[in-house]
Amino acid sequence: MHASDVADDLVEVLFTEEQIQARVAEMATEIERDYEGKDLVIVGVLRGAVMIMADLARSLTKHVEMDWMAVSSYGSGTKSSGVVRILKDLDADITGRHVLIVDEIIDTGLTLSWLTSNLGSRGPASVEIATLLRKPEALQMPIEARYVGWDIPNEFVVGYGLDYRERYRNMRDIGTLAPSVYS
Ligand code: IMP
Ligand code: MG
Repeated sequence: MHASDVADDLVEVLFTEEQIQARVAEMATEIERDYEGKDLVIVGVLRGAVMIMADLARSLTKHVEMDWMAVSSYGSGTKSSGVVRILKDLDADITGRHVLIVDEIIDTGLTLSWLTSNLGSRGPASVEIATLLRKPEALQMPIEARYVGWDIPNEFVVGYGLDYRERYRNMRDIGTLAPSVYS
């Protein structure tokens, strides 16, 4: 769906489908340059990262292994719980390999900070983070993302994998959710 299909639920459209596609392609170009000649595994964090994983991976012109992890971070609301639990682990053995965690958003940073150290303890050659969005004002953990699409204000956003109670993930654009939807 498009933002226009749920216009009443949005305060504004932050990024259109075209802007997102262009930015993800730029990120892919950077990643390809940085990992030239290296064995790269990209790890998507389910379920929000499905869209960016699909677009990023297809923008690469080299082979890349795609693997997935599922961790619990949020309940069904809009506030981070800080509790991280592995619901689905990697299938790949990442020992000695270059790992790039791909996520759609860094909010408090709790999830990715935990995930980075968890994957880091498995003996990879490197662990870096690529995220489409980051909310600098919400950060609770010092966390370094090597690739960031955009920094955004501390507001709840939906679309392009980002959900509110499992809705809006299939919206092509990214928009700010109207408070009337969740209050
Ligand atoms: P964290 O607070 O950085 O640990 O964020 C963990 C997860 O919360 C993200 O991967 C998203 O799935 C979800 N999340 C954080 N902010 C938003 C938002 O604005 N909209 C939808 N999901 C969000
Ligand atoms: Mg989520």
